[in-house]
Amino acid sequence: MEIPEELVRMLGTAERVAVLTGAGISAESGIPTFREAQTGLWAKYDPQELATPQAFQRNPRLVWEWYAWRRELVGGAEPNKGHIALAEMERKILQFTLITQNVDGLHQIAGSQNVLELHGNIRRTKCSREGVAVETWEESGEAPPRCPDCGSYLRPDVVWFGEGLPEEILLQANQVAQASHVFFSIGTSAVVYPAAALPMQARRNGAVIVEVNPVETPLTPDADFVLRAAAGEALPALVKRMMDEILDC
Ligand code: OAD
Repeated sequence: MEIPEELVRMLGTAERVAVLTGAGISAESGIPTFREAQTGLWAKYDPQELATPQAFQRNPRLVWEWYAWRRELVGGAEPNKGHIALAEMERKILQFTLITQNVDGLHQIAGSQNVLELHGNIRRTKCSREGVAVETWEESGEAPPRCPDCGSYLRPDVVWFGEGLPEEILLQANQVAQASHVFFSIGTSAVVYPAAALPMQARRNGAVIVEVNPVETPLTPDADFVLRAAAGEALPALVKRMMDEILDC
């Protein structure tokens, strides 16, 4: 696909690059996104029934089992060319930070080092009362299982609707966005805050905004560059142009 030369040149000199990813970058790994009409998770299930503290209070077993199903989906997924391209890009940029809304952990598996998980990680489990990560527990057949320390239900270590994001991580993400020279928004519908505010934070501080998405989003009008394609196509093409540029120097 066609990569704007101006963008390649900018990336050749940019010292600080920040990337925000959403479910779209994992779509090519077979993981459903949230809002797409046919395949989106929220098209089939009501998030209010499954991804809120109230839902967990009301029906802990249903919520635990839905996340167990999603964990299984994620467990069988491999990083795709988009994830891998971002891990390669990180190695070419002086200060590169990957901020993700995804909970699938695929960026780290693809080799990305500097990752901020805004919405947690479905592969991690925590005590619903103490909030501390729990790695092993007694499988009594009860669902959800109970915290070995206090006996409260265990829950996935992900952010639910109506819950705050991990404060320290959100603070870092804001700082990184404000300091970035180039800010990528990749595979996100850019409608869920506070993550969706990050590109505008970056723009207000002079960053060049790049959107990678097959379709328009509310961010599109404010993007300086739009790669209207799947991440698995656009990102490897972009990284290849960056490498060619380095070789041509
Ligand atoms: P969405 O499902 O809202 O949006 C996915 C975006 O990815 C859409 O804009 C698609 O057009 C785009 N997309 C689809 N396939 C793509 C591909 N191959 N390459 C690039 N883009 C592609 O998912 P998010 O924006 O991530 O929050 O949703 C944000 C948050 O809303 C999620 O983190 C989750 C959800 O509620 C929590 O769970 C707290």
